[in-house]
Amino acid sequence: MSPAPTPARWPAEAIWQAVAPLLPGFTVEVLPSIDSTSTELMRRARNGRLEPTLLVAEEQTAGRGRLGRQWHTGAYEGTGMVPALTFSLGLPLAPREWAGLSLAVGVSVAESLQPALPGADGGQPRILLKWPNDLWLQDGRKLGGILVETASLAGAPSEPRYVVIGIGLNVLPVLTQGLSTPPACLREVDSTLTAASALQRIALPLVQTLLGFAEHGFAPFQARFAQRDLLAGRGVTLSDGTQGTAHGVAEDGALLVHTARGMQAITSAEISVKPQ
Ligand code: BTN
Repeated sequence: MSPAPTPARWPAEAIWQAVAPLLPGFTVEVLPSIDSTSTELMRRARNGRLEPTLLVAEEQTAGRGRLGRQWHTGAYEGTGMVPALTFSLGLPLAPREWAGLSLAVGVSVAESLQPALPGADGGQPRILLKWPNDLWLQDGRKLGGILVETASLAGAPSEPRYVVIGIGLNVLPVLTQGLSTPPACLREVDSTLTAASALQRIALPLVQTLLGFAEHGFAPFQARFAQRDLLAGRGVTLSDGTQGTAHGVAEDGALLVHTARGMQAITSAEISVKPQ
């Protein structure tokens, strides 16, 4: 007989204690199921609910990825296990420049989960960042993704906006059918991680990252991104068919690609970049 599943024990109180001094009015909520944590925080913002909120869902029925894609998490129905960490953090923010925010978030999440990069000797896999919003393992499998959305508060460009940072990370192996290469999961990086313990590691540094970004922009994160840049030095194909070699990211988070027409700074979220 297999042991009864242990319900996830979310560190909501500990996260609240650590974050509330930095974000007055901060709340933490954990829901068993919702359409999408990011959709819910944007709905609340449109209804005037703008308090800083960390919203975690054990299941999303309509999770959203970038570029209008769906975000599915593996099915572990009836087991009591939470296969993925899915949460959104919403707060008013007024950075001087928004460019590079999702890259800074990626740096923060990767460093929280793997503070030191392991050696490239084939042992523990490295968590790398694939411009602009993905966390991958070095073997080319996606571990998770980041979705950054903002809503205007007062309309003026210099006013703060309500930003919703949605993060999805596979924790347990993804049970998929029909995919030749299943996505990666956090258990491959650290066999002790659960959705709850991953959240505990990520939450406070993420808030500190957002506050630091609001103050100083992307520049302080540039070198840290470079350490985990999956595309650096690799051939890439832009979604318009242009081919080139990735040369890291600029101070504003743009991807630098050397093409036949010279160095191009790619900023548009509509451009997908794939290793050749
Ligand atoms: C991507 O890789 O395209 C981004 C995926 C972001 C998924 C997260 S899960 C929590 C939050 N709620 C959503 O509906 N999406 C984000």
